[in-house]
Amino acid sequence: MAQMSRDGEQVIFIVENNKMNFRNRKTLQTLTVVVLLAYTILLVYQSFSTGVIDHENMDVRTSVEKTRSFRQRLQRYLSRDQDLEGDLQNLDNPGTMASNFIPGEVTQVTMRPFMTELNDMFISVKTTKHFHKERLPIILKTWFQLAKDQTWFFTDTNDYDFQKMTNGHMINTNCSSSHSRKALCCKMSVEFDTFIETDKKWFCHFDDDNYVNIPRLVDFLGDYNPREDWYLGKPSIQAPLEIINKDKSSQKVKFWFATGGAGFCLSKALALKMMPVASGGKFISTGEKIRLPDDVTMGYIIEHLLKKPLTVVDQFHSHLEPMKFIRRDILKDQISFSYSKNKEEWNVVKIEGFDTKYDTNRFLSLHCFLFPETRFCPR
Ligand SMILES: *[C@@H]1O[C@H](CO)[C@@H](O)[C@H](O)[C@H]1NC(C)=O
Repeated sequence: MAQMSRDGEQVIFIVENNKMNFRNRKTLQTLTVVVLLAYTILLVYQSFSTGVIDHENMDVRTSVEKTRSFRQRLQRYLSRDQDLEGDLQNLDNPGTMASNFIPGEVTQVTMRPFMTELNDMFISVKTTKHFHKERLPIILKTWFQLAKDQTWFFTDTNDYDFQKMTNGHMINTNCSSSHSRKALCCKMSVEFDTFIETDKKWFCHFDDDNYVNIPRLVDFLGDYNPREDWYLGKPSIQAPLEIINKDKSSQKVKFWFATGGAGFCLSKALALKMMPVASGGKFISTGEKIRLPDDVTMGYIIEHLLKKPLTVVDQFHSHLEPMKFIRRDILKDQISFSYSKNKEEWNVVKIEGFDTKYDTNRFLSLHCFLFPETRFCPR
């Protein structure tokens, strides 16, 4: 602006000096100053008013720029020769990560009325002390690295080693370590209460035998408004569950529930509505009343008590389905995977990569397939 007004002044002098005599010069100078002052005020006013109007667009643009720079930094991060520990936190906007994996990101980002970022999520992983050593290391080596600050492990003991490795993200629920209905509902209850205390927009629950495709999850949730009621997951039965409600003269109750072993997500709006029957330990008493496991209790509360339907999401996978049927060309679109061992038969994702002796549940190979730039992946 300063440059502009100086230029303006010069132009006026060249033109005007030819016509005016020297005595009028003072008057002209005063006039010029007045005109310039008025012009400056006008410019300042204009930039302020458009600044206010454009504020939202500016936010979007900034986000897109952040997305771009995040992509570059993610690329750099993934191709580093250093260890994965303590790194991704430094990225200022890890939430826009999902947008890095889809073409036409700019339109998609700007068209959405709300933005879902990694940091809008609260990811809980249910585990137990018996499985820490067997199941957590692979999670910590793979997908946890992409959501370190958002992922919390809910367990039943204090484990100093894993507390350190997860940067303090192990929560001792003080629940029993048995696989009983009550113990499971107890953990879900703590997961739910912990989420409610945060300012996160989404609660996503997984088990310790899940692989979570973090960027895909973030991108997927971007299509749903967390201010609306959403219960997103995948049932593992063909028809809604039917139970008898002993309270109400043996009335039949039918509802769907998302299998906990496949993972599911709840929007903040829905979680808040669930509070009267699910928060502060009430999840346990509700579970006790119907005498069914945690994920079924979740379905009962949401579908039956609150009358909010489950939205079936095919991209969640539990070990109850055969993993080998997930085609290689759609692996990238899936949100969660699992594995199981039945007698000597392994139910695992069919993917090339590391030797099965070294990578029995295929999570390392899957991670390298999805994120080939990761340090430990072969080039
Ligand atoms: C578990 O018990 C300890 C010790 O009494 C307590 O500090 C902690 O807050 C409890 N955890 C939960 C999730 O309630």
